[in-house]
Amino acid sequence: MAKVAADIRLSLHHLLEVPNIFTTSSSQSSLVYFIFPVLLVAVTTIILTWRIVANGMTDAKRPRPPPGKLALPIIGFGDTMKFMAAFSRRETSEYVAQKIKECGSPVFKTTILGRTTVFLDAPDGVKLLTSATDDILIKNSVPASFQRLLSKGWMNYRGQEFKALKNHASDHFFGLDILQRYLPIVERNVVEQIGRSWMGQEDGAVIESHSNIKTLLLGVIAELCLGLTDSTEIGKLKPLFEIFSQGMFVVPVNLPGFQFYRSLQADKQIIRFLKQQITRRRKELKEGRASPSQDFLSVLLTVPTKDGYYYKDEEIVGNLKTLLWAGYDTSATTVTLALRYVAKDQKVYEQLIQEHSAIARSKQDNKCLTWEDLRSMKYSWRVILETMRVTPVIASIMREANNDFEYKGFTIKKGWKVWCTSAQSSQNPDLIDNPDVFDPSRFEQPGVGVPRYTYFPFGMGYRQCPGMELGKMVILVTLHHFLKNFKWSLVNPEAKILYAVLPYFDGGSLIRISKGEYF
Ligand code: HEM
Repeated sequence: MAKVAADIRLSLHHLLEVPNIFTTSSSQSSLVYFIFPVLLVAVTTIILTWRIVANGMTDAKRPRPPPGKLALPIIGFGDTMKFMAAFSRRETSEYVAQKIKECGSPVFKTTILGRTTVFLDAPDGVKLLTSATDDILIKNSVPASFQRLLSKGWMNYRGQEFKALKNHASDHFFGLDILQRYLPIVERNVVEQIGRSWMGQEDGAVIESHSNIKTLLLGVIAELCLGLTDSTEIGKLKPLFEIFSQGMFVVPVNLPGFQFYRSLQADKQIIRFLKQQITRRRKELKEGRASPSQDFLSVLLTVPTKDGYYYKDEEIVGNLKTLLWAGYDTSATTVTLALRYVAKDQKVYEQLIQEHSAIARSKQDNKCLTWEDLRSMKYSWRVILETMRVTPVIASIMREANNDFEYKGFTIKKGWKVWCTSAQSSQNPDLIDNPDVFDPSRFEQPGVGVPRYTYFPFGMGYRQCPGMELGKMVILVTLHHFLKNFKWSLVNPEAKILYAVLPYFDGGSLIRISKGEYF
């Protein structure tokens, strides 16, 4: 028993014995036994660490697709419903914030309407989207319904054809010298139409301003584009454009009962109407009853592009339809929104009255507005800019990659949609102070309150809105005559602003007007 205990002690001692590597030469073999594993572990650790770090660096440097889940091809919806619901409820900021959190990056991808869609950040993404030409990014509207309804029109022109159209329109329709000639026409139209449909109302009458202003501004744009002055014709055209517009952001099912079908029917009637205008104008031109430069219709019929090309009738129809739609709805919605924001802010209203009464005082005998008057409406324009910042009429820039390219270390593949929304730019609290607050003073110093490439109410660069100056003129003239003839208050101040391509008001934008002469 005692021997067993001694053996156990001996073997334990042997097991626990630590050789003294420094003193005994006989322990050299023990030295090898100890150092080898330590070195092995150290070297392995170094190699592994290096590989992890090196691989990590290589991966970060190697372009990869932006983060974000994609839907299964063909059968998957991805974020279609989520995005559409957020967009129509004016909650794109919430959608984008959630995606950025999920993906851990302000540049992310998802599937919308069956297409891989990459959201870019601001200001860099906005700069890229607005400056890139057709070799990198093309304008290719989504969804298919939008593209179909505006086919053969401006928005679907690309490359050389696009440049030719843009130059042609700028030389003969949108140029500043031409707009100055149009100013009296715009003012006469606004005055007449306010007189016809607003001044006839009782004092204190409640008016659905959005629809009324749309009629007013469709009249203005239709006279400039087509020479149309008959208010009955405008009255017929407007509901057609409204139905046409409602089909832009829907599933493109061309079967009775579907919105897209109704919109295509309205489209057919608009096309028929525009073809009639072409026939009528050709006759008038031939008989010397119309001038070749009186409006864009005449120009398109009589003036070739610099390359000597005359537009075909179907192109003239497509372009006029685009200009009418893009011109009246955007401008009218902006004016309607501005009236709402101004009605909620007495200080803004007073400053506007001050600016416009000074302009009116500077004129003798109530003369028409001049180009200089418009230029001096600086505060008014800031109010409009802030209106479009808080509620952008067009809330995204949308393009399609025409080639593979790299952005901030991410690969973007040909055919992918590439978007930047106002949620990531002009309404982004990281870029704009208190973005939800209506404050026209942020535009006092260009590029300060609203940094460059964070705000694009008319787009910028290559595909910038060609109607920007015209829109500005129409909006300022309309605002001037509203301020002059009415005071207004909101009947439904809490009406929700929703989106169906452009913003609209749940329950309409009801205002109560008090007629008068306010300056
Ligand atoms: C408040 C008024 C307006 C606003 C806010 C507005 C805004 C815009 C925006 C954001 C774009 C897209 C730019 C892009 O994709 O980068 C655009 C394009 C366009 N706008 Fe306007 N617009 C207005 C008035 C007008 C007017 C009055 C007209 C003509 C009568 C017009 C005609 C067009 C056309 C033809 C395009 C397509 C340009 C292209 O594809 O190259 N817009 N507009």
